Amino acid sequence: MKTAEKGATVLKAGIKRLLARTGFDIVRSTNNRGGVDDFIPFEAAMRASRAAGLSVGDYIDEVMNGTPGATQSTIDELRALGVFAAEPDTVLEIGPGSGRYLEKTLKECSPGRYEIYETAAPWADYLVDTFKVVARPTSDCSLAPTPDGSVDLVQAHKVFNTVTFLSASRYFFEMARVTRPGGRIVFDVMTETCLDPATMRAWAAEGGPGHDSYPAAMPRQACVDLFATLDCSLEASFLAPMGFASTEVLVFEKKA
Ligand SMILES: C[S@@+](CC[C@H](N)C(=O)[O-])C[C@H]1O[C@@H](n2cnc3c(N)ncnc32)[C@H](O)[C@@H]1O
Repeated sequence: MKTAEKGATVLKAGIKRLLARTGFDIVRSTNNRGGVDDFIPFEAAMRASRAAGLSVGDYIDEVMNGTPGATQSTIDELRALGVFAAEPDTVLEIGPGSGRYLEKTLKECSPGRYEIYETAAPWADYLVDTFKVVARPTSDCSLAPTPDGSVDLVQAHKVFNTVTFLSASRYFFEMARVTRPGGRIVFDVMTETCLDPATMRAWAAEGGPGHDSYPAAMPRQACVDLFATLDCSLEASFLAPMGFASTEVLVFEKKA
């Protein structure tokens, strides 16, 4: 192997180790601008989860990330907040990846329509086949195919700390646009709440080489202030585990 190839292989292995430690399932994206460019190979993940007798989402939580129950704990918090009791008829999820949140959302409610915007084509195809969701084309962090005020619950999990500030910001405007009055917007970001000095020290020590865009932080107050200008008020927030660290889930309600 040439030296340059060897360097790339070592770098990739280092990134994979880092991502495994921090609780991510990363999939190669077909047009993932500014995102995470490593991936869990679709076929291998499916085979391994089947062999373990687990859904791919539970396999990622329990085996790959070593954080059993991590996805369920967020779903439990959302249930306690009444997000599913509102019986959302239309749900939209950005970056569902393996579908670990999607699968559990569908155990909590029965929307007539579940739209996804996912840049990783093999995973998007799998979700369409398995859960009969509707995959929308992704382009420039736009939700253009989805009409204004048409969605009851808009969500994204472990996405906005893997993409750039601009990508996240552009999606925020779109999320507010497509949410119907009285609907909910749920997403997590790595806010200052998640960045105490010890955690920052751990990120600095554990952060992988050659991966400058991950993890991406986003100020909490900037989110709250922005969504307020878009008629969405912060209803609740809580921490969600992410390997040795965490992200903060923000739950907004759009003015009825
Ligand atoms: C860290 S993974 C999280 C996946 C899933 N939500 C979970 O928590 O298991 C980030 C996901 O966002 C997707 N993604 C990255 N950039 C995106 C974009 N611009 N639009 C939509 N999805 C994107 C990736 O392909 C990947 O599936």
